[in-house]
Amino acid sequence: MATKELTRTEELMNVIRVKIANRVLNPSDRLPSVRRFAATMKVSPSTVVEAYDRLEAEGIIRARRGSGFYVTGADLPPMAIAEMGPIRARDVDPFWVSKQSLETDDTVLKPGCGWLPPDWMPHEALRKALRSISRSDDSLLTDYGNAQSTLALRRLLLGRFAEEGLNISTDQILLTTSGTQAIDLICRLLLRPGDTVLVDDPCYFNFQALLRAHQVKIIGVPITTTGPDVEAFERTLKEYTPRLYITNSALHNPTGASLSPQTAYRILSAASAQGMTIVEDDIFTDFEPNLSPRLAILDGLTRVIRIGSFSKTLSASVRCGYIAASPEWIEGLSDLQIATSFGGPSPITSAMIVQVLAGGTYRKHLDEVRHRLTLARLDVAKRLTALGIKPWLMPRGGFYLWCELPEGVDSAILARRCMEEKIMLAPGNAFSTSQSAAAFLRFNVAQTQDPRIFNTLKRLMK
Ligand SMILES: Cc1ncc(COP(=O)(O)O)c(C=O)c1O
Repeated sequence: MATKELTRTEELMNVIRVKIANRVLNPSDRLPSVRRFAATMKVSPSTVVEAYDRLEAEGIIRARRGSGFYVTGADLPPMAIAEMGPIRARDVDPFWVSKQSLETDDTVLKPGCGWLPPDWMPHEALRKALRSISRSDDSLLTDYGNAQSTLALRRLLLGRFAEEGLNISTDQILLTTSGTQAIDLICRLLLRPGDTVLVDDPCYFNFQALLRAHQVKIIGVPITTTGPDVEAFERTLKEYTPRLYITNSALHNPTGASLSPQTAYRILSAASAQGMTIVEDDIFTDFEPNLSPRLAILDGLTRVIRIGSFSKTLSASVRCGYIAASPEWIEGLSDLQIATSFGGPSPITSAMIVQVLAGGTYRKHLDEVRHRLTLARLDVAKRLTALGIKPWLMPRGGFYLWCELPEGVDSAILARRCMEEKIMLAPGNAFSTSQSAAAFLRFNVAQTQDPRIFNTLKRLMK
């Protein structure tokens, strides 16, 4: 069936509908005047009048005599985050990788997924902690958490930060239910719809999804092997005066890049000159062989907020993360956490993590995982290179390899075809704000062990 071409009037009506659906226009907001909207859309005023009249007939807007047209709020569709921002093919939008990772079963091989396989995690230590918790006081099993119940874990985190040279106090740490909740709370505290937020290009796809939900403008800065391109970073700050910059300073997702000291210095100087806040997502810190430069440590948590999580190294199932920031911000974030979730992680969760961290087995587990990852990284890089798939960088740790495909191969098309053969890939543009990473794939080396993955890639790339 041929698609009917839209008239100019219908196009204008759609523009208004999309603005209402995306909450750019909210109930009771005034629409642009007929003359202004006509000029913006390069149409005649009579076309705008017709579009407004028809939207009024549908009950979506209402005219107020002498004052203009207003949004009624009738039939407001639920917010669809995936539809906010530029429309992209579903196989490269920011939800594609998470959905394929979370919704497919164990029969699917997942070199594109973002966590370690279960047999790489410290399950014995977790079981032991669960057994011990089953014998604890009733209150641990039934009560809401409180400041006291999270103190032991906050103290453990303090000790770990102090080892890195970041000396802070327990009132500078808020436990959260995940790294994702940590970022969400920060966005709630600091952002308003329409603000500008800087991310790396490419960046972790869920930064984009979450920021879309907060209805902010997302600007990407190209990443280099030593962090963001500092010249572009400084230019972008001057041009857009963003409120926030969200980044992974070490073992960046998806590229594996880590900040050089020079880049760290320039970023902090530029941020300070513009009064911009930085969220340093340090979720991969425990995979590092030794500590690379960290913005939070250099700045002492003045304009940098550090967040982290136990999902990648201990368990994604227990759901626990944290925010380290200045005490005033922690107070505001804690209020927001009460307002939106009536507290942080379950007391059972924090008790479990304390047991695993305090027992010494965690450090041993990390040593083993780091060693296994080094071997897997070298092996997978070699096998991919043999297929013409080239790592952009050999990261100093972690489980990601950001790889460039042979010329002419599009990662979204390859990902779709591999999915038909039950192999889930992470196509580059799912991470890219500028959609300039069609030639890239992100591999998780711990999940890229099965020979079927390499055989299928070889066959389909032909
Ligand atoms: C860079 C980054 N930040 C945050 C998260 C979210 O982790 P959590 O499970 O703690 O929400 C992930 C998960 O993949 C991630 O890669």
